[in-house]
Amino acid sequence: MKMAKTKFSSFLSDCQNRLNQQLHELFITQKSPSPRLHEAMQYSALAGGKRIRPLLIYATGEAFDVPLSHLDKPAMAVELLHTYSLIHDDLPAMDNDVLRRGKPTCHIAFDEASAILAGDAMQTLAFEILSAPNQHLDAHQQLRMIFILSRACGIHGMASGQALDLATLGENITQDELQHIHELKTGALISACIELALVPSQASPEQITHMQIFAQAIGLAFQVQDDLLDVIGDPNELGKPTGMDAKRDKLNYPAIIGVEASQNLLKNLVTNALDHLHLATKKPTYLKELTQLIIERNA
Ligand code: IPE
Ligand code: IPE
Ligand code: MG
Ligand code: MG
Ligand code: MG
Repeated sequence: MKMAKTKFSSFLSDCQNRLNQQLHELFITQKSPSPRLHEAMQYSALAGGKRIRPLLIYATGEAFDVPLSHLDKPAMAVELLHTYSLIHDDLPAMDNDVLRRGKPTCHIAFDEASAILAGDAMQTLAFEILSAPNQHLDAHQQLRMIFILSRACGIHGMASGQALDLATLGENITQDELQHIHELKTGALISACIELALVPSQASPEQITHMQIFAQAIGLAFQVQDDLLDVIGDPNELGKPTGMDAKRDKLNYPAIIGVEASQNLLKNLVTNALDHLHLATKKPTYLKELTQLIIERNA
């Protein structure tokens, strides 16, 4: 007999379907003068993926009484931005990976130039979507969202994190240095998800501060779990190869502090995150289960 679906798992699949549906429509309606570029973008955007960042946006909205329809555009923009970062992360000049989301990486399925351009075009498409006329958000809210997302992804966030990640290959970095890289390359975009969802909310400055601390903790936790999965995960479940960090002489959390200490760190990060979530809102929220999922995921 099939187990009754929990409310949380229904929320997860509803939000994933909501996002996937919109991405499908986006690629049907967006025509490109270059069919190959369009195909490469569509290939990576619709290749699967857990859609964790859109889920964080929708769950934060749900916790702060923002209708999900108001968050569709930011959710789509963030997922496109994230997918662009993966396409570029996998390029030979970066991590040189051949498998992503269970499929050949964009540059393997197409070619390097197409993968570079697909990433570029996805990044600008994200901002096009955020800035286009929107029946649910006013211009001030849209501008705030553009600021949050651009700050998280460029020189103040992901791009710098990725640059440091590559610049420190083969180096004996400390845990503090690694934490800094992880907060930039992965944490910044995850924090942006929470901030974006709060833009159309009535959250007070105090609530926002607690949510920022919550977001920082889960952002770091997300990359620590990614590091752990690279060491102890199952490549079939992950849809990407394991052992790649060690192979590239890249120090990750388990390499610096060990598997057990990394797992303990995850528990502490979650406790801290949930403490601040509770200070921000007493409402039962899917963010609690989502936080747990981030550190318990196998993929
Ligand atoms: C992988 O992100 C890259 C990191 C920032 C660790 P995800 O684990 O969210 O990848 P997808 O979107 O599910 O493929
Ligand atoms: C990726 O970190 C971070 C970004 C894409 C910004 P990783 O290089 O560890 O991600 P995976 O393991 O390839 O998914
Ligand atoms: Mg990388
Ligand atoms: Mg990588
Ligand atoms: Mg990794």
